[in-house]
Amino acid sequence: MDSRKQELMGRLAMVTGAAGSTGFAIAKALVEDGLRVLLVDIDAERLERLCNQLGEAAIPVPLDVSDPDRVAVVSAAIRADHGEVDILINNAGILSNNKAAETTPAEWRRLMAVNLDGAFYLAREWLPGMKARGWGRIVNMCSLAMKTGGLTAGTAYTASKGGMAALTLSLARESAAHGVTVNAIAPAYIKTPMITEQLSEAQREQLLLQIPVGRFCEPEEVAFLVCYLISPLAGFVTGEIVDINGGLHLD
Ligand SMILES: NC(=O)c1ccc[n+]([C@@H]2O[C@H](COP(=O)([O-])OP(=O)(O)OC[C@H]3O[C@@H](n4cnc5c(N)ncnc54)[C@H](O)[C@@H]3O)[C@@H](O)[C@H]2O)c1
Repeated sequence: MDSRKQELMGRLAMVTGAAGSTGFAIAKALVEDGLRVLLVDIDAERLERLCNQLGEAAIPVPLDVSDPDRVAVVSAAIRADHGEVDILINNAGILSNNKAAETTPAEWRRLMAVNLDGAFYLAREWLPGMKARGWGRIVNMCSLAMKTGGLTAGTAYTASKGGMAALTLSLARESAAHGVTVNAIAPAYIKTPMITEQLSEAQREQLLLQIPVGRFCEPEEVAFLVCYLISPLAGFVTGEIVDINGGLHLD
């Protein structure tokens, strides 16, 4: 086996939003690379079903990442049962396409809580151990929306992803000297229910005309990028926000 892959074998990874299309593709790719993977999601039933497809290396963790008390309790249980997390993929997220005036304060808070606060709670839980051991990887899921102001995405979603980008830079700076990299991915229009169900047929057709590659992104393509960012050979890449948008936005 490839010696770089061998370095990852048996490490413990956590993927949030793992019952969703992108999260599951990421978890599956990590299991296939020989990692033990904690699949975290608020949807316990779906999570259980998906974990059964991946075998023993997949461990279901029902959790609302926006609840700091539950994050602390569940993290303590994980530590006792499975050890420390080496690789954290903060992928859980919810979408709203509402622009400012249509966004209620409660909706604003919920988007921030799930899309941004959850990543912070989990990073503060697992990053100290990574730094102490001198190795770790964090990958945060941003979005093209934070660069464009949201072509279709709403105000709270766009702002939450902008916060995620700044969180990535801050964590990267504090971790770089400790063997821990922190990066983000900024996808656009992955083929998931977020676009198949939350956009109209007319919006989808219009978007396809604008994406130079001429199609939507496959979840497996995002998973492959995660596999690169967590690999031992990506140790010099940190504080980077990697675009995966089919040429929709070039910078
Ligand atoms: N689909 C896209 O086009 C697109 C584009 C850019 C960025 N993203 C980002 O990619 C990530 C994954 O999106 P997706 O398209 O796979 O969405 P998805 O809806 O398929 O998956 C999201 C998952 O997060 C889970 N979740 C929601 N709230 C949670 C909570 N409080 N705690 C734990 N889990 C929770 C959901 O149950 C779901 O399984 C999100 O962060 C999203 O913002 C998606």
